[in-house]
Amino acid sequence: MKIIAGNWKMNGSRSGLAAMQKSLGEIDTENRVVLCVPFTMIDGAGGPAAIGAQDVSCHDHGAFTGEVSASMLADAGAKYVIVGHSECRMYHGDTNETVHAKAEMALSVGITPIICVGETMQERDAGKTLEIIESGVRESAPNDGGDVIVAYEPRWAIGAGITPTEEDIADAHKLIADILDSMGRGGTPILYGASVKGANAAQIMSIPHVDGVLVGGASLKPDDFIPIIMATK
Ligand code: PGA
Repeated sequence: MKIIAGNWKMNGSRSGLAAMQKSLGEIDTENRVVLCVPFTMIDGAGGPAAIGAQDVSCHDHGAFTGEVSASMLADAGAKYVIVGHSECRMYHGDTNETVHAKAEMALSVGITPIICVGETMQERDAGKTLEIIESGVRESAPNDGGDVIVAYEPRWAIGAGITPTEEDIADAHKLIADILDSMGRGGTPILYGASVKGANAAQIMSIPHVDGVLVGGASLKPDDFIPIIMATK
């Protein structure tokens, strides 16, 4: 069983989500499928895929115009939330510290945070990949308070149509697994994300410590997303 999570980013519609859920209802899979959709679609369509959000406030309630709290997400039916996605780190200034606070908020209401970590091209070129991954996991993942998912997303490969080598993915995931173990979080699922598609999904998910994938562009249409889900049983 793998976890196949889609990240719709700022794309899609409620009717598109209903159509996706209908298509997902026609396939036979043991995998856990999650769709992280814009806030407006969270309560939009029941179906086989669990629904998640793409961000959450690190505050509980109050004068935070434009923000959505974890309890509001739970109230709308979200079961998962992505925290620390590279686009939120880049455009909204998320840091490991705020990501940690967001993950704690999600856990406090029973929502599973999907905590994203990964290096930029600059960090990669400077040979800092493993260092960034290590601080990302140690500082972003709460030590206790319920199950989390970690997603390794090399930021330079997101939406770029390129992926790291199998060896690089294996090294990153082994490191993350060891760190999570040392934090008392052994067995936490670790997803790979960035430029996953039907053609590379089976190979990526056969790498040790890759427990599933987080998929952006290729999660928007059933014709692209279903082959990824069916790439492994
Ligand atoms: P991509 O995005 O699959 O389009 O590269 C992945 C992500 O941003 O989670």
